[in-house]
Order: sequence, then C-alpha cells, then structure tokens
Amino acid sequence: MPVTDTAVLVEGIEKSFGDVAALRGVSFEVPRGTVLGILGPNGAGKTTTVNVLSTLLRPDAGRAYVAGHDVVEDPASVRRSIMMTGQYAALDESLTGRENMVLFGRLMGLSKRSAKSRAQELLTQFDLLNASDRRVSGYSGGMRRRVDIACGLVIRPQVVFLDEPTTGLDPRSRQGVWTLVSALKEQGITVLLTTQYLEEADLLSDNIVVIDKGTVIADGTADELKARTGGSYCEVVPVSLDDLPRIREILTSLCPSGRVIEEGTDRVSIPAEFGAQTLTEVLRRLDIAGITLADIALRRPSLDDVFLSLTGQVSVDESVLS
Ligand SMILES: Nc1ncnc2c1ncn2[C@@H]1O[C@H](COP(=O)(O)OP(=O)(O)O)[C@@H](O)[C@H]1O
Ligand SMILES: [Mg+2]
Repeated sequence: MPVTDTAVLVEGIEKSFGDVAALRGVSFEVPRGTVLGILGPNGAGKTTTVNVLSTLLRPDAGRAYVAGHDVVEDPASVRRSIMMTGQYAALDESLTGRENMVLFGRLMGLSKRSAKSRAQELLTQFDLLNASDRRVSGYSGGMRRRVDIACGLVIRPQVVFLDEPTTGLDPRSRQGVWTLVSALKEQGITVLLTTQYLEEADLLSDNIVVIDKGTVIADGTADELKARTGGSYCEVVPVSLDDLPRIREILTSLCPSGRVIEEGTDRVSIPAEFGAQTLTEVLRRLDIAGITLADIALRRPSLDDVFLSLTGQVSVDESVLS
C-alpha cells in the first residue's frame, strides 16, 4: 500500500451472494488514527464490508489493504493487525487486573517481560494502578470495562472493527462503547465503526461514509455532509396542534422545492434558504394568519436531514438517543 498514513484503503470492492449484489464497488480511505463511521440502513452492505476487510470474506473484485496488507494476498498479516468486535477478553475473576493483562499478553504471544511492561503501561493509562493488584471479582462494572478495553489493546491492534457495537444496547452500555471508541482513538488506533444511528456517527466519527444498496453514496466529515444538504432549517412549533395543517400550507408556499418536513407530531420545518430572512418571513406570514407559536428556530441540518436528502428515506432510528 503506497501511502503510509493510510490505515485502510478500499478500492472498488464487489461482493455478491448468489444473485444478491451486496457490494457494488465500494471505495474509501481511512487515515491512520482516525475513526470512520460507516453509516447505512439495514442491508446496505456494512457487515459485508467489515467482513471483507477483516478477511472473513473474499471479495469478488476490487482491492483492499488494512495496515498495509492486502486482504486477499496476505490475510494472516491483516489478522495480526486488527481487533474485531466481541473479542474483548474474558476476564478471570480469581486473578488481579494486572495478572489478567499479563496473561492476555502471554496468550497473544508476548514474552513474559513484554507482557509485564505492556500491562504496566496500560494500567497507568487506564487509571487502574491502584486497583491493579486486587482480584477482578471485587471490581466495579466501570473498572471491569476498563480492564476489558485494556486487554484488547495489549497487542496494539492497528485497526479495530466495531460492527454495530451499540445496536440493541441500553443507553448506559452504549455510553461504555463510546468511551471505548475514544480510548482507542487516544491510543492512535484506527477505528471503523458501522452504525445505523446517525447521531452516533456524528458524535464519534472523524469521517463518515454513507453506504446504501452496496455503494458509497456520500462521504466526508459530519459537517461536510450537513453542509451538502444546504444550510439550515427553520423549525416551527405551534401552540395548538390544530394549526399544523395551515402552517404546512403557508410554509409550502414559501419553500422553493415545496418540501415541508414533518418533525415528530408537533412541529414542521423547511429548508431556510436565506437563513434569518427565511425565519423572519415565516414569522410574518404566520403572524398575518393569526397563528400563535410555542417556538420557532433556525437549526443546522442534522445527519437525519442528510440521510433523507441522500436516500429519500427517513432515518433509520430516531428513538435511540432521545
Ligand atoms: N451470507 C449471505 N448470504 C446471502 N446474502 C447475504 C449474506 N450476507 C449478506 N447478504 C445480503 O447482502 C446484503 C448486505 O448485507 P449486510 O452487509 O449484512 O448489510 P448491513 O450489515 O448493512 O445490514 C443484504 O441484502 C443481505 O441480505
Ligand atoms: Mg450488519
């Protein structure tokens, strides 16, 4: 792989299962030490992408390099450079945190000496030194998680794949995964994280690749993607829900594309092409119509808006973080 500060390079990957074309030429590049969010609805091809990159699946066409190694030509080297979801260490309750970490290092092929010094480093980094010589059975949930994460880092994977790590988790466990992603990033590790959750991609990723039906339909930073949908939105919340149909009508006449967006049950918004001017005009017209508002605001586009404008689909899951 030519560029050394690229951790993952994907070029035109195709993969079919029978007559299902799961990937139809996926390409992207992930700079070393960054977090890439791979965002897409169910069936978009996220898992297939991750499985090709982690050498569990052989692509039909295209090339991919992970940590400089070709996934088809040199899968063994790829595997030595990565950590996959769910490979968190199973901790031995009867051992101390330090012993667990040393043991894990030994299992991963480190010499006794390297395993010990790596454990010391990680215990320091994860603020576990005080507890390091106590048995794991007495650890709090948070401490266990930190030991867990640290064990995953004993052999310093260069690239970590997390395939929908928060799907179906409760908010607290989800928070734990986010902490993990930040910890990985602090260690200079490259993270590829697939998600259906727009806000998660927004929060954690340096760059986002949006996949739909086996192709990349957009990529960039969250801000770039948002800017692409064209500026802000003017959002209107009436005091009385009965006013919503009239508001819709008035806003439709103001909106060049006629695209009025329903937001939940109590509000509507339109693209605010002229920013504050659009907002003023909305206020003026609603005032003339005698409609009383509970709230009106200009807001920046969310990734939901981006997704809607890219795919014509409403977002995958809105309930997650609200
Ligand atoms: N082993 C398989 N056999 C047949 N079809 C598959 C297989 N794996 C995935 N697919 C199909 O490939 C497409 C992409 O799937 P997947 O990569 O799992 O999507 P995602 O992870 O984004 O939900 C889907 O249409 C899925 O049904
Ligand atoms: Mg999947």
